[in-house]
Amino acid sequence: MTICYFSATGNCLYVAKRIGGTLLSIPQLMKQNDIEITDDAVGIVAPVYAVEMPMMVKDFLSKAKIKTDYFFFVYTYGMGYAAAFAHVEQVCREKGLKLSYINAIQMVDNYLPGFEMQNQIDTLPKKNVEGQIKKLLSDIASRVETPVKITAADKAQMAMYQKMLAKLILCKDTAQGYIVTDNCTRCGICAKVCPADNITVTDKVRFANRCEVCYACLHNCPQNAIHMKNEKSEVRFRNENISLKDIIEANE
Ligand SMILES: Cc1cc2nc3c(=O)[nH]c(=O)nc-3n(C[C@H](O)[C@H](O)[C@H](O)COP(=O)(O)O)c2cc1C
Ligand code: SF4
Ligand code: SF4
Repeated sequence: MTICYFSATGNCLYVAKRIGGTLLSIPQLMKQNDIEITDDAVGIVAPVYAVEMPMMVKDFLSKAKIKTDYFFFVYTYGMGYAAAFAHVEQVCREKGLKLSYINAIQMVDNYLPGFEMQNQIDTLPKKNVEGQIKKLLSDIASRVETPVKITAADKAQMAMYQKMLAKLILCKDTAQGYIVTDNCTRCGICAKVCPADNITVTDKVRFANRCEVCYACLHNCPQNAIHMKNEKSEVRFRNENISLKDIIEANE
């Protein structure tokens, strides 16, 4: 089994590790000219961003040649995934890839403009992450098929979200609005955790216009020196089972 994952704060990396098999980082795969993945089962683990999959994961699915009898998609999310399943169905249909199974694991919501991170972390036990993962592992082991039926109402909801949310939130120049405070030691870690090669650190931290809006730089800066004007939280988050080194190895 091969699992391709995208992760900024470790939730997806943790779920990918729990599923097991050969783990491949989508940001690293995207550096290859040709991507071919052949296995008896192939899965994607990715976060919900603005009720759809991250831009890079969509590009990956368009680019990669995937040959398998069992293709599955697992989201991690915080507060709601609404039309995100419809987005996977749409992308797979356009690619001609049969989607055998889809699921979503509710974890900490790392969306800084929306949530107070300490509250997200404190209320995590209520989400019963291990229970959700246990069911996921059992489904995948038994090769459960969950055909996704997308209704006209789902499609309408997806179109509305894409127009109202995704267009506003998922902008490639987002990081250019981030504020780097004097606490910055120019250690370069933000550049290493960025999955989009969007950061350079010399005499100062500079952001280009390839941002995936993943918040890896904001959440993983050891000095908590990167901020957004509209953040609801000064506290930062990384999945308790995942180290900074793990995120660097995944995204560098
Ligand atoms: C830009 C952005 C948008 C997000 N949008 C949603 C959303 O629409 N619904 C949701 O439940 N969580 C949303 N989240 C939260 C993430 O999906 C969630 O925290 C995920 O588990 C993060 O995975 P990671 O730790 O592997 O990066 C969003 C996060 C970011 C950074
Ligand atoms: S990780 Fe933080 S402290 Fe290090 S260079 Fe980036 S902003 Fe500065
Ligand atoms: S600049 Fe920050 S938010 Fe944008 S892709 Fe890189 S790590 Fe993610």
